[in-house]
Amino acid sequence: MSLPKIPLAAVIGSPIAHSRSPQIHGHWLKTMSLQGAYIPMDVLPKDLEQVLRTMPKMGFVGANITVPHKEAVMNIVDTVTDRAALIGAVNMLVFCDDGKIFGDNTDGYGFLENLKSGAPNWVPSDGPAAIFGAGGAARAVISSLLDAGVPEIMLSNRTRVRAENLRSVFGARVTVYDWTQAGNMLEDAALLVNTTSLGMSGKSELRVPLDALRAQTVVTDLVYNPLKTKLLETAEGVGCVTVDGLGMLLHQAVPAFERWFGTRPVVDDETRAAALR
Ligand code: ATR
Repeated sequence: MSLPKIPLAAVIGSPIAHSRSPQIHGHWLKTMSLQGAYIPMDVLPKDLEQVLRTMPKMGFVGANITVPHKEAVMNIVDTVTDRAALIGAVNMLVFCDDGKIFGDNTDGYGFLENLKSGAPNWVPSDGPAAIFGAGGAARAVISSLLDAGVPEIMLSNRTRVRAENLRSVFGARVTVYDWTQAGNMLEDAALLVNTTSLGMSGKSELRVPLDALRAQTVVTDLVYNPLKTKLLETAEGVGCVTVDGLGMLLHQAVPAFERWFGTRPVVDDETRAAALR
């Protein structure tokens, strides 16, 4: 007698203990009474390929990929979506029935969905977006904003050359500002996004002058620990609509969960609470 197959999924990184993904997926599995399990796996870079090749044989249907593997996994997967290729990173895998590994990046989707639900009156055509930071997270954010139809991206990063690199990837709708001039981007911005790690608990504060921030600018921070960063606090004081970063984490998990477990989950206050437990 063969046992029914229970779909398994994992989040793979190193270290992995801090990941909120097991709480999020676990909450959805439980509240929807679905068969399945989602576990954290600490995998070193040298073991990544072997682990990924073995997982389908153990009943895994997919995995999320996090630091430090998001770029390296591009060399292991058999197919990647165009958006993952453009972003240069993969955050979710599907182990296909034919043995192939499919990779996608849902970070940009998660960012945009979080923004739309937290600032329902914001529309991409409202005007330019100002972005602090030019790391991996910024790539996903810029890609999703340009796709959505934002007319211009003003980009500033401490290490200017990384911002210049993103300009060469994403093209002429991206304008680079020196980090010492980052505050100047705010005069025209309909949207401000912090994609740096500044403001995260245990890290330095973001010190860009915010005097030019206007009440019409929607402000969002990818940092979600703390939920209300100094940037969001200042923006609230100015009268801006603000959106915290936790929702991006929740929304990026939706397409993966649906693909692996067959049901589309909803992101609500209970999901937020589960992620913070
Ligand atoms: P992620 O994938 O989360 O974007 P990352 O690629 O390491 O991570 O990028 C981190 C971002 O935070 C970068 O924009 C980084 O600026 P640099 O490119 O100059 O490193 C920014 N960042 C981190 N610490 C910073 C600091 N003390 N001051 C200014 N920017 C900082």
